[in-house]
Amino acid sequence: MAPESDSSPLVLGIETSCDETGIALVRGHELLVDVTASSMDDHARFGGIVPEVASRAHLEAFGPTLAAATERAGVDLVDVDAVAVTAGPGLVGSLTVGVGAAKALALALGVPLYGVNHILGHVAVDMLVDGPFPEEFLALVVSGGHSSLLHVRDIATDVLELGQTLDDAGGEAFDKVGRLLGLPYPGGPHVDRLAQTGDREAFAFPRGLSRRKDLAEHAYDFSFSGLKTAVARVVEGYEDADEEVPAADVAASFSEAVADVLVTKTLAAATSRGVDTVVVGGGFSANSRLRELAAERFAAAGVSVRIPPIRYCTDNGAMIAALGSAVVAAGLPPSDLDITIDSGMPLTRVLAVA
Ligand code: KG4
Ligand code: ZN
Repeated sequence: MAPESDSSPLVLGIETSCDETGIALVRGHELLVDVTASSMDDHARFGGIVPEVASRAHLEAFGPTLAAATERAGVDLVDVDAVAVTAGPGLVGSLTVGVGAAKALALALGVPLYGVNHILGHVAVDMLVDGPFPEEFLALVVSGGHSSLLHVRDIATDVLELGQTLDDAGGEAFDKVGRLLGLPYPGGPHVDRLAQTGDREAFAFPRGLSRRKDLAEHAYDFSFSGLKTAVARVVEGYEDADEEVPAADVAASFSEAVADVLVTKTLAAATSRGVDTVVVGGGFSANSRLRELAAERFAAAGVSVRIPPIRYCTDNGAMIAALGSAVVAAGLPPSDLDITIDSGMPLTRVLAVA
């Protein structure tokens, strides 16, 4: 771990943007503890996140999760130097619980509050695993709600958005295909598992925004809704013919199309910008085919790729504490204690100010 870390401020990170209540403590680049409580089991039977249920679950889980984090780290709350919390993007009710709790803690402890961007947290968490970032790198963040390609020179102060999804996010497309294939919610991990037993070349599914005319305007943007429709047509075709759907082959060919587009576009951006490191983050970076294809193709192109272990890819407190730690280290002024949550927080905003 980073030798300078002992003198760095102790940052408490709080994540409540969706269904995970995450609390972590980070000092410099060192993760002291990361505790997560998930309400996913309460949502699964509804086939999607129920915002009201998620908010209530955060309220119930917050106290015990915080207590577990401090106890496991052997840290007293009074030792905390700064509180970082997800200010957005995310579900309004869920964000409100975390930001409210963070304000109360910052006020009670007399320490600064940093309301930070969830998506950039998915990038920052990699510092805890792979150490300080290089001078510049590309970040591919793919989750249930976002797919974005970023050029990062400083995670706290200099992030340029090169492209994003124009419709469904990668994880969202997986969840929808999971539903089409009759798999439990959230479909992403189930489709991934099934895909590992199928033929990736069984179906030639479309690669969104990859034709020459699309590339001119959307070189680094993504679109997965056409792909999802193509999958639906194939599934319907089998169902209409009363034939068994070759679910593993559909899943494998679909996964290949998503991973191929993500890796191809990221690699094109790295080459054209002369950047030799790519950081991959967000819940979807748990996807096995994306990990495989990224490792293969980036290595062949001489681009190094950093992807944190799966437990740090899905939502957690460590990512928020890591970004908070970077923001504190950059010397940015803290957020006002009366900040409001920003459910659509843009990627250009690292920190909620007021
Ligand atoms: O980042 P995350 O935990 O929450 C959001 O901020 O959205 O991402 C969750 C998303 C879900 O859509 C989930 O199905 C997807 O990531 N996901 C996966 C895999 N693991 C999680 N998608 C494909 N393959 C996986 N192995
Ligand atoms: Zn996320």
